[in-house]
Amino acid sequence: MKKLVVLTGAGISAESGLKTFRDSDGLWEGYNIEDVATPQAWQCNPALVQEFYNERRKSVLEAQPNAAHYALAKLEQKYDVTIITQNIDDLHERAGSTKVMHLHGIITRSQSSVNPELTYPINGWEIGMDEVCELGSPLRAHVVWFGEDVPMIGPAAQICSKAAVFMLIGSSLAVYPAAGLISYVRPEIPRYIIDPKIPDVATRGTLIRIQEKATIGVPALVNKLLED
Ligand code: APR
Repeated sequence: MKKLVVLTGAGISAESGLKTFRDSDGLWEGYNIEDVATPQAWQCNPALVQEFYNERRKSVLEAQPNAAHYALAKLEQKYDVTIITQNIDDLHERAGSTKVMHLHGIITRSQSSVNPELTYPINGWEIGMDEVCELGSPLRAHVVWFGEDVPMIGPAAQICSKAAVFMLIGSSLAVYPAAGLISYVRPEIPRYIIDPKIPDVATRGTLIRIQEKATIGVPALVNKLLED
């Protein structure tokens, strides 16, 4: 089976009702990212950070996968598909995709605040301030904050370098190291970008541009790839 690699960002979940980061004046659900998504924020005001992610988790659990998530799952009929997502929601998995790598963690799990390798399932939408890991330290959301390492970036680069077909869906390519993954994709293979507002940085090179919302552009491209 041909290896097909998909890099997704917040745009693929926008039509499931989850807001993107950079379409709203640099605010994320009304917050400055530095106030809620950095290790410093957790040190200064852990209750605010916990509440912020609890609310995000509630929204994720209430959201449903959309036609773009389902179309990518259907691609597995004919391709060896790996999805590398920057998203912390679980909509790819719920749509049926079987190989999903979460570069920035997944909000449906908790993580030890002293050892990021200790992660746990969460019962419901809330992590309480009194909940601790097996080392006795508070639990936080299993997400990668600004200023933290992205442990999966090496394996993700390897996967990109072996792709025979590549798709980029709904990412502004503003955040590194994830945005750099595209440079590991061999330039001679078909490389598609689907976004209603194609980011400037992606106009260099030879990407095949599909200027559409994910729920329109992705199912159409998937049907074409399944027919090829
Ligand atoms: N379909 C497809 N793309 C869309 C849609 C849609 N319906 N609506 C918006 N988009 C596009 C926007 O045009 C933009 O290019 O999705 C992109 C969203 O960009 P960002 O909000 O910057 O999201 P992303 O690239 O995933 O952010 C990367 O930044 O805040 C951090 O860690 C966080 O993983 C996140 C990372």
